[in-house]
Amino acid sequence: MELLDGKATAAAIKQEIAAEVEQILAAGGKRPHLAAILVGHDGGSETYVASKVKACAECGFKSSLIRFEADVTEEELLQKVEELNQDADVDGFIVQLPLPKHISEQKVIEAIDYRKDVDGFHPINVGRMNIGLPCYISATPNGILELLKHYNIQTSGKKCVVLGRSNIVGKPMANLMMQKRYPGDATVTVCHSRSTNLKEECRQADIIIAALGQPNFVTADMVKPGAVIVDVGTTRVPDATRKSGFRLNGDVKFDEVAPLCSYITPVPGGVGPMTICSLMKNTLSAGKKEFYK
Ligand code: GUN
Repeated sequence: MELLDGKATAAAIKQEIAAEVEQILAAGGKRPHLAAILVGHDGGSETYVASKVKACAECGFKSSLIRFEADVTEEELLQKVEELNQDADVDGFIVQLPLPKHISEQKVIEAIDYRKDVDGFHPINVGRMNIGLPCYISATPNGILELLKHYNIQTSGKKCVVLGRSNIVGKPMANLMMQKRYPGDATVTVCHSRSTNLKEECRQADIIIAALGQPNFVTADMVKPGAVIVDVGTTRVPDATRKSGFRLNGDVKFDEVAPLCSYITPVPGGVGPMTICSLMKNTLSAGKKEFYK
């Protein structure tokens, strides 16, 4: 069994990005600028956004963090989105999800100028990704592709089971794994809470990508020996031995699954760092106006 080390892989990619930023600046270009909107004080969102701001510094990007209290109105938030759409200094921006219930996430996502949508959540980017056109691709699935690429994991003709059908991970992941290129060309099955044969599907899989948000869901009896396991889960579970009072738990029962498989991502240190790294890659693309003028 070999660990798919997202932390080390992401660190190497961030160094490459930083070197490219230096070149851009040396040639008289502009420093890429990512803005992030954070609404409220959700613990997970605070941590993710702080990591994104830190990664920007590591890559040599400018970053701006814009905060609102949880009682911000939808109108105020949409106004800020429009301001960022118009701000020529901002190359790309994100609105950290989830948003409070009184705000429509879809409305906010669709208000973002797709040319600055470095999360790849706008329907134009989702649609372009689906048909294989250049665009911003959502960071978690793209980070997983980068990790598979980094470890030269074969995907062509393999049976890949994606667990979960969210707009952020499951759906784009399944789509990317079936595209006619590497990493892709896989035979993809998507399983979710209503699937009746989920365990059998998993047992036949060469690659399992678990993105259900259910700690320890994937057990040894669901894994074919030699399979590749990618664990997207990051559920916070109480842990009195930690200073924070919690630890991150993946969707895979690591201790019993790891000895069986060929490759597996740890939690933390697997998919998480790759997700942030992919957002940095999208921000660099935004700075370079690589996809859209
Ligand atoms: N919440 C969980 N994942 C993400 C992400 O990739 N982007 C944003 N904006 N919010 C998230």
